[in-house]
Amino acid sequence: MQYQTLTVRRDGQVEYVTLNRPEVRNAFNPTLIAEIEGWARSAARHAGLRVAVLAGAGKAFSAGADLEWMAQSASYTREQNLEDARRMAAMFDALNTLPVPLVGRVHGAALGGGAGLVAVCDIVVAEEQTTFGFTEVRLGLVPAVISPYVLAKIGRSAARELFLTGARFTAARAREIGLVHAVTGPDQMEATVAAYIREILAAAPEAVRTAKRWIDELWSRTGRDEVTELTTEMIATRRVSAEGQEGLRAFLAKRKPSWIE
Ligand code: COA
Repeated sequence: MQYQTLTVRRDGQVEYVTLNRPEVRNAFNPTLIAEIEGWARSAARHAGLRVAVLAGAGKAFSAGADLEWMAQSASYTREQNLEDARRMAAMFDALNTLPVPLVGRVHGAALGGGAGLVAVCDIVVAEEQTTFGFTEVRLGLVPAVISPYVLAKIGRSAARELFLTGARFTAARAREIGLVHAVTGPDQMEATVAAYIREILAAAPEAVRTAKRWIDELWSRTGRDEVTELTTEMIATRRVSAEGQEGLRAFLAKRKPSWIE
């Protein structure tokens, strides 16, 4: 597929997706939103795909929503504004439910919706000079479509501080609050992302996809009996699955499981 605002490169079992509007720091307009959603929905059908990496071209990962486009919304009807927002929500949902792990490779800046993109990545490697911020209130807006994903990552305490001030914060702080997982110097970015990819590829493909779905499924359950039923069903199913049996037998026989090349 041809994209105008994304570059997509496949390398073996890994797909590299790069936001490509560097002149506006990868701010997302309707085209970028539609293309990310389209790519994420299609990824489910990409044979043999096991990991995706999301990055930004140029100086910054993403400056969030395109503020030119946001400013035009005054001329839209309420229904058009809602429809626009629904498309943005669909993009975040598509990334959040990507069937394989999504690794964020973040540098420069991740602000507003750009920090929202960070929140829907499963694993995030950030360059140490990256500036983060939920800057919406500084623009008279409120973190909205991104907030369920951000809250799930950073919790209410950090959200109260950062959503209410709109203050920019460092990569070290982003790691402290659980928004990112590793912070490295610019020279170590490739190697750190590659190390995460290697870890994921060492795990059983179907088990990884299941574990990803599982986290979201379990997160919303509160009944103790229901949780016990789900967790016992999960392990009872997985241990007799082809992958489960192969993984257990390989361990006991001191050999590599079949999914490791
Ligand atoms: N939407 C639209 N255009 C944006 C943008 C956004 N979110 N963020 C940056 N741009 C544009 C700038 O207007 C500028 O355009 P110009 O070259 O025509 O003047 C261009 O991108 C480069 O931005 P600039 O600020 O000069 O680059 P920088 O590298 O010094 O700083 C940022 C990059 C991301 C730190 C800075 O642009 C910024 O703070 N942007 C606002 C981000 C924000 O608050 N987003 C929240 C959205 S909800």
